[in-house]
Amino acid sequence: MHFDLFSYIIIYFRTEDIFCILTAYYKNIKIKEKDGTIVKKRFSGEEAVDIAIFSDVHSNHVALQACIDYCMKKGITNYILLGDYVSDCPNPQKTMELIYVLKQYFNCYIVRGNREDYLLDYRKKGEDTWSKGSGSGNLLYTYERLTDKDFDFFESLPVYGIFDPKKAPGFEYCHGSPTSTTELLFGDKRNTKRILNKQKTGLLLHGHTHVQESFSYRDKKAINPGSVGIPWNYDGMAQFAIIHSGRTGWEDELIQIKYDKSQILKEFEKSGLKEYAPAWAALAMHTIRTGVDLSEAVLLKAMRLCEDELGVVRWPAIPEKYWAQALKEYYIDLSGKDIPRKE
Ligand SMILES: [Fe+2]
Repeated sequence: MHFDLFSYIIIYFRTEDIFCILTAYYKNIKIKEKDGTIVKKRFSGEEAVDIAIFSDVHSNHVALQACIDYCMKKGITNYILLGDYVSDCPNPQKTMELIYVLKQYFNCYIVRGNREDYLLDYRKKGEDTWSKGSGSGNLLYTYERLTDKDFDFFESLPVYGIFDPKKAPGFEYCHGSPTSTTELLFGDKRNTKRILNKQKTGLLLHGHTHVQESFSYRDKKAINPGSVGIPWNYDGMAQFAIIHSGRTGWEDELIQIKYDKSQILKEFEKSGLKEYAPAWAALAMHTIRTGVDLSEAVLLKAMRLCEDELGVVRWPAIPEKYWAQALKEYYIDLSGKDIPRKE
């Protein structure tokens, strides 16, 4: 037993979770001692293997903690992390701490998302295009709170991974698509089918759209676990997936769980994020409260209002008054609450 594990338990978990964590830890020893052993066991019927898939945390460490707690209680020791760990919610460092802990003690497959790409690009290109305001203030806020360790970690991540053990069903994993962190793979769309056709394995795990779904096409399957931190639909419940080793291949389970939304919503008020990006923070809070995402609609409206009045619009330089007007037209206040509509 590593001494560090005790620190981890004391810092991150409630007393009633300790037994579950220790169980998970000891189960994990078998897997970590000899890489590849789990594949033989996985489909032989000797021991079932479960892998949890988390995507699009977007700095919502409260939702991530709830998803980890759920998995710890199930004794899950394998995790796939699909990117967009930070931005949109306050205090990104708290999410990074949880990810480092998962990575240290459990078996993790990790890729980076488009948000990590944006942050790395900004660092490389000279840090002068983002400013306070709803256009890019959220990214700037996140950037200023990350450390060299975080950037090095993002840099080390691939954008695509494959687990293909030959004697057992494998899987591939990425944020958007295997070739782009920004490609949107919605089930039943032509690009999704084209990409599935090209897969080396029968299963593609991907995120980015925030739409939780499992899509089968011919003998292939694409699973999107949904978003942990800025989830769409299901009244904003945190979402993730678990794949279970079955007799013939991976079987997926799509999960939605309630968590303490008030805790992360309170952090928006105290963290300074609202000062950096007032309307964008309101949109994130609105999606957290409701599961309804209006960020794209409000952004387009703010851009149109700006262009109509000034004759020109260029992201991210959209004056805050147009954001405020656009929010109001979609009946959202600056705390992300719905404004009652008059009859
Ligand atoms: Fe994304």
